[in-house]
Amino acid sequence: MHDVVTVAGLGWPTGRPTIAAGLGWPPRESASERVRTTTAPPSTVSRETSGEGDPASLDDSLLGTPAATQDEGAAAPASAGDVSRETSVDPLDPPDRPVDAVEASRSIATVSVDAVAAIDAVVAALPDDDDGDTPLAAAIAVDTRRRLVLTGRPLPPPTHTRVLTVANQKGGVGKTTTAVNIAAALAQSGLKVLVVDLDPQGNASTALGVDHRSGVPSVYEVLVDGAEMTGVVVESPTVAGLFCVPATIDLAGAEIELVSLVAREGRLARALAAHLADTAYDYVFIDCPPSLGLLTVNAFVAAREVFIPIQCEYYALEGLSQLLRSVEMIRSHLNPELAVSTILLTMHDGRTRLSSQVADEVREHFPEQTLRTTIPRSVRVSEAPSFGETVMTYDPLNSAALAYLEAAAQIAERGAQGSR
Ligand SMILES: Nc1ncnc2c1ncn2[C@@H]1O[C@H](COP(=O)(O)OP(=O)(O)OP(=O)(O)O)[C@@H](O)[C@H]1O
Ligand SMILES: [Mg+2]
Repeated sequence: MHDVVTVAGLGWPTGRPTIAAGLGWPPRESASERVRTTTAPPSTVSRETSGEGDPASLDDSLLGTPAATQDEGAAAPASAGDVSRETSVDPLDPPDRPVDAVEASRSIATVSVDAVAAIDAVVAALPDDDDGDTPLAAAIAVDTRRRLVLTGRPLPPPTHTRVLTVANQKGGVGKTTTAVNIAAALAQSGLKVLVVDLDPQGNASTALGVDHRSGVPSVYEVLVDGAEMTGVVVESPTVAGLFCVPATIDLAGAEIELVSLVAREGRLARALAAHLADTAYDYVFIDCPPSLGLLTVNAFVAAREVFIPIQCEYYALEGLSQLLRSVEMIRSHLNPELAVSTILLTMHDGRTRLSSQVADEVREHFPEQTLRTTIPRSVRVSEAPSFGETVMTYDPLNSAALAYLEAAAQIAERGAQGSR
């Protein structure tokens, strides 16, 4: 057996057998130990802040203010997020976690009715962003309002368990990031959520802090060996009420192994249905690999809804028609209930016209499905998985975390109204 050492911050999944130690690096404490024990002030860190902290790139729809702000990103004046804070970085000593923020996120969904009323009064007293303040003051006021309105409020449960497949055959568009952060936001807001990691890369398992070394009971055994899903589900150590079916690298061979199996397209659907029969969830998210192979087909057959993250960049729309054709084909042959219910624009950079143009085009084609909130780029989002966390616990007051919370609230509102 290997000694297990977590090299937090380098992207090694939690619990990976130590490689760094073998290279002469000193063993390091795990991310969770660090969070529990750290009392020292945060170390210096290079924080690339393109769009981060730029509240103008977030939608204000939940707050009753116009969504137009995100379209003005290109012309938007400098905000807090535009300030470059380049400092020296020790790549082996990643930024310490904002401990207070983590504690704050754990107490989420505990705001009393009186507290909500008090918060509403504070929010009402905040200046409007077009009050003639400096752009920085207006941006801070908008961000403050978002934090007050969104953080800690319970979200309504759906009328029935919603199963969403997060898919886009284009790689790196934010599928995994979206699946785990929306799932974490819903769980933090009092709902019970399952994430099925269906990507051999196991990125969703990493972000949820779940062990996914080869050999760990995983979705592979469920799909190929017919194991019960109940036996492989684990709770995320970072968010209560958030569960995960991990994926290991073994899943890489499953596409081929599935070909010769009976009812190969419906194996995940059957396993999930059996699990849902004895465990009630509010939401299930299936994180797909970047392909339209048998794994993704299994996800389409298991779900009623397709959730497409679209990166705000030029090539984003190119593969979309192929994806929609695949959904259509699954609907006509294998799963008549399937439909694209939700589209989320990710990695929006409020300072570029291109981001806004892509966003406008998507909204024009899919006005019903596209969520009003757009997720801004933030380096904190990509740092979080190195600690086995989502940005919802890693830095819950970050603009992207607030945007994910806002998007989750919109999804929950739809669910509470019985949509899909
Ligand atoms: N809002 C964001 N700001 C900054 N970086 C982001 C943001 N969203 C995602 N990323 C980063 O972009 C990269 C791709 O994201 P992600 O892994 O979620 O995409 P994916 O579609 O699941 O990729 P794959 O197709 O490989 O499964 C990751 O490094 C992630 O940390
Ligand atoms: Mg992924």
